[in-house]
Amino acid sequence: MKEYTVAVVGATGAVGRMMINVLEERNFPVKELRLFASPKSKGIKIPFRGEEINVEVLEETKSFKGIDIALFSAGAQRSLEYAPKFANDGAVVIDNSSAWRMDPEVPLVVPEVNPHAISKYKTEGIIANPNCSTIQMVVALKPIHEVAKIKRIVVSTYQSVSGAGQKAIDELISQIKAWCSGEPLPPAKHLPQTIAFNCIPHIDVFLPNRYTKEEMKMVEETKKIMEDPSIRVTATTVRVPVFYGHAESVNVETEKKLSVEEVIEILRKAPG
Ligand SMILES: NC(=O)c1ccc[n+]([C@@H]2O[C@H](COP(=O)([O-])OP(=O)(O)OC[C@H]3O[C@@H](n4cnc5c(N)ncnc54)[C@H](OP(=O)(O)O)[C@@H]3O)[C@@H](O)[C@H]2O)c1
Repeated sequence: MKEYTVAVVGATGAVGRMMINVLEERNFPVKELRLFASPKSKGIKIPFRGEEINVEVLEETKSFKGIDIALFSAGAQRSLEYAPKFANDGAVVIDNSSAWRMDPEVPLVVPEVNPHAISKYKTEGIIANPNCSTIQMVVALKPIHEVAKIKRIVVSTYQSVSGAGQKAIDELISQIKAWCSGEPLPPAKHLPQTIAFNCIPHIDVFLPNRYTKEEMKMVEETKKIMEDPSIRVTATTVRVPVFYGHAESVNVETEKKLSVEEVIEILRKAPG
């Protein structure tokens, strides 16, 4: 089997660490693993397949030659700046940030839904990965859309703090610990309000149309991935005091009438 040199950019973050675990768990054919983060993480080592791998400082690295696949999860700014550099040096970049998702030249891909998009676009070596809430929704909706054409979607989310990064996970832990010891809850720093024992309908910033950016990501990304700009989507996204795992309530109207039994059968046969 061919083996690949894989880079994880944002290796010390909540997503990056999970990517490293999954590469190991799935026995992905990794020839060499290169890990990148900010200057703050200089000297940190992360275990992979029984070895300790040194974290490299992204901005101190001059060449990215020799990397076959680069998994990016270090924020949109880093993706905008460094994804083209990795791609120019020969890597295929798979970007988890929002930086490239709506770029008309960049495929936005969920493997179970639209893998063909990779060859459809004139890609320059960057493949975007959608928002986490969009991913799980389109995996469930694409097979229904193929049979009955979805006209509109009303989605409400219940999103865990992991989606806001490691600092948000730590913030929930510290608020719960304070509550258990009868101390005042530490103030919110990384989330807009206290998250312990609370639900916050405010993820990312508010936009002029009064939706949040997180909500509009679900609207726009869904149309691009399903390759159907006519689908009407409205979203309400809510952060809930759960560590990992997003839930969603999705209400859809289809052009062709379907029974509940037919929908269950479609979903039972669908990948994912
Ligand atoms: N598609 C999805 O499903 C999904 C889900 C969640 C998040 N995301 C995206 O993934 C990205 C990371 O999310 P996260 O939850 O893992 O955040 P996080 O826990 O805050 O981790 C951020 C990572 O970025 C690194 N970083 C920050 N500034 C950097 C710099 N100047 N140079 C190099 N590396 C830098 C951090 O390194 P240090 O530790 O050294 O600071 C850390 O490894 C975000 O863009 C987020 O929107 C995508």
